[in-house]
Amino acid sequence: MEFHRVIRARRSLRAYSTRPVEPEKVERMLEAARWSPSCANRQSWRFVVVDRDAPTRGAVEETLDVGNAWARRAPVLIVAGSSRPAGAVVESREYHLLDAGLALMSLVYRGVDLGLLVHPMAGWKEAPLRAALGLPDDFAPMTVVAVGYAGDPAELDEAARKKDEKPRVRKALGEIAFSPRWGEPFPATLPPSPAKVFETDIQLRFRDTDAMGHVNNATVVSYLETGRVRFLVELFGARRVEDIPFIIAEVSCRYRLPILLQDPVRVRMWITDVSRSSYRFRYELFDPTDGRLFVEAETVQVMYDYAAKRPVPLDPAFLASARDYVSGE
Ligand SMILES: Cc1cc2nc3c(=O)[nH]c(=O)nc-3n(C[C@H](O)[C@H](O)[C@H](O)COP(=O)(O)O)c2cc1C
Repeated sequence: MEFHRVIRARRSLRAYSTRPVEPEKVERMLEAARWSPSCANRQSWRFVVVDRDAPTRGAVEETLDVGNAWARRAPVLIVAGSSRPAGAVVESREYHLLDAGLALMSLVYRGVDLGLLVHPMAGWKEAPLRAALGLPDDFAPMTVVAVGYAGDPAELDEAARKKDEKPRVRKALGEIAFSPRWGEPFPATLPPSPAKVFETDIQLRFRDTDAMGHVNNATVVSYLETGRVRFLVELFGARRVEDIPFIIAEVSCRYRLPILLQDPVRVRMWITDVSRSSYRFRYELFDPTDGRLFVEAETVQVMYDYAAKRPVPLDPAFLASARDYVSGE
């Protein structure tokens, strides 16, 4: 997966499937962690992998806070932390925790890259965890990471499901990054994320549903098409097929909740990754009455000259019309 897509796909969701995780995927995650940077190359990070059949598994699950009960379904739990004496100290700065954090991020992103749901947790009790795994006193456990495949949110308890359905929030860039000195917001030039979004309602039809009782996954892709055509009609004045000189090079969907026939569905979309001949649409299909997110999706459009049979540079007029909808994420 392209790296920016891994960043986008990573979520700390809570619904896990019981599908086992292939052992080599866990190994690949640990291998990514092993190649992380560390102060003075001390590599002070340490991991303990506890899979479903491990004799220590029950004891580790017992350490989880009630609010993290969802994590018991995850086939693999990884305890991550650092060895204090192994870490470098510069002036009075102890780098072992930063080493562990950097390695954890590599581990998490590699897991997402492999199609896994990887969720770090701080909600667990340290003393019983130490006892369960025989952790030495000079090891600082920092997180228990749930690893598995995404499951059905309908199987979560209500509290956990509500947390997963909350919209994601982040502080503005200027609140967390300064230049040239503390307190002076970093001068962001890219549009904030999400940029201005285009929204349009989708009319569901009875035939959109399939034997599973919800809107068919392939049909969802045609909802993206509807959004795209309306976007191009409203912003670009497209009237004929020839006015839409793009081909679709890539489609990806992340199905979060099943869409039922009676659900109101709206598509929200914006543009990212504008390059010479292509750009990416990001989409969210959601319920406008309560904000439930059904699907996150992306498509890549390549501007194409059908006569010459090759990609051509994006039309400056298109870029000018779409400018407000381009996000810098
Ligand atoms: C160190 C750390 C501890 C966390 N502890 C918990 C936890 O105990 N339970 C939980 O449900 N989520 C936990 N999270 C997940 C955060 O709530 C989540 O990362 C944050 O809300 C941002 O959401 P996102 O990861 O989906 O972008 C933790 C995340 C980190 C990095």
